Amino acid sequence: MATDNNIAVSVKDLEKKFGSFIAVNRINFDVKRGEIFGFLGPNGAGKSTTIKMLCGILTPTAGSGYVDGYDINREQELIKQNIGYMSQKFSLYDDLTVEENIDFYSGIYKVPPKRQRERKEEIISMIGIEEFKSMFTGILSGGLKQRLALGCAIIHEPKIIFLDEPTAGVDPIARNNFWKLIKEMANKGITIFVTTHYMDEAENCDRLALIYQGSIIAMDTPINLKTQCMKEKVLKISVSNAEEWLYKLDKVEGIKESALFGTAIHTIVDDAVKVKQSIKKLFQETDIKDFTIESIQASLEDVFISLIESHEKVGGMCELK
Ligand SMILES: Nc1ncnc2c1ncn2[C@@H]1O[C@H](COP(=O)(O)OP(=O)(O)O)[C@@H](O)[C@H]1O
Ligand SMILES: [Mg+2]
Repeated sequence: MATDNNIAVSVKDLEKKFGSFIAVNRINFDVKRGEIFGFLGPNGAGKSTTIKMLCGILTPTAGSGYVDGYDINREQELIKQNIGYMSQKFSLYDDLTVEENIDFYSGIYKVPPKRQRERKEEIISMIGIEEFKSMFTGILSGGLKQRLALGCAIIHEPKIIFLDEPTAGVDPIARNNFWKLIKEMANKGITIFVTTHYMDEAENCDRLALIYQGSIIAMDTPINLKTQCMKEKVLKISVSNAEEWLYKLDKVEGIKESALFGTAIHTIVDDAVKVKQSIKKLFQETDIKDFTIESIQASLEDVFISLIESHEKVGGMCELK
C-alpha cells in the first residue's frame, strides 16, 4: 500500500475496459523495492495497457493502485515526473547525436542544470556508449539505441523503472548486455517492472506474473513456477522428423499438449510412465529405433501452455506461497 515503504508498486482489482472489451481484468499484485518484476504474456495479453496505467498515461476503469506511494487514479502527473518509462516504441531523435539526445531528455525530465553534465557522463559510462557519444543516433545499432533509450528514460534517477518489451527486435547478445544493465540497476535498489513475451528472458526476473487475456494466471519466482505450478509432467522426445511426429503423437492416449522445442518434442502428460510406454510402443511398431524419451523439468513455456489450458477450462490462477 501507499504507506508501506518496502512496496514500490501495488495494485488492487485493476481494470481497463475499452468500450465493452476488457483489456485488463481486475488484476492484483505488489512489487517490492529493488525487485525485478516481470510481466510475461503473448501479444494482446494486456501488458502495455497495465504499464500505461501504472505510469499515469491511461486511467483505469476500476480498481486502485500506487506507484512509489502515488495514487495512479489521482496523481498521474506526479507519477510521470518520478518514474522512468521506456515505452514499446521509444523515441530517440535520429538526427541528434547521442549526447544531444541525453541533453534533450535532461531538459524534459528537469534534471537540475548543475547536475546535468555529471549525470550525462554517468549515463554514457553506464550504458557503455562513450565512443559513439558524438555520433548521430540514427546510425547506431538496435542494441545501442535501446541502451541509449534506457539511459534517457532514467536520466532523472527514478527509483522505479517501467520497461515495456525493451528488448523486442534486438539480437541475443544485445539482449544479454541489456539484462546485465537491468540487474546492475536492481542491485542498486532500483525497482524494475518489465514486460516481455520472451520466455528465456523472463528467467532473469525475481518474480513473474503470467498474463493472458487480461488476467494474471500465475505469479511466482521462475523456479517455483517451473517446479510447483504445474501438476503435469513433461517428456522430452528426440526423434528424427520430429515435426511429423508432433501430429501423430497427439493421438497417443494421455498426451495433453505437445510442442516443438528446437528439434525435440515436449509433451505434457499426467502419467509419465504410462505415456512413455505408449510412445515407445508406437515407435517400435513403426520400426523407429533411434529415439530417446526422458522426463525433464518444465520450461516456463511448458508451464504457460499448461496453465492457459487449465485457465480456459476452469479459470482461476496458480499462486504459491
Ligand atoms: N486504445 C485501445 N482501444 C481499444 N483496444 C485497445 C486499446 N489499447 C489496447 N487495446 C486492446 O487491448 C488488448 C491488450 O493490449 P495491450 O495491452 O497492448 O497488449 P500487450 O501489450 O500485452 O501486447 C489488445 O486486445 C488490444 O487490441
Ligand atoms: Mg505491448
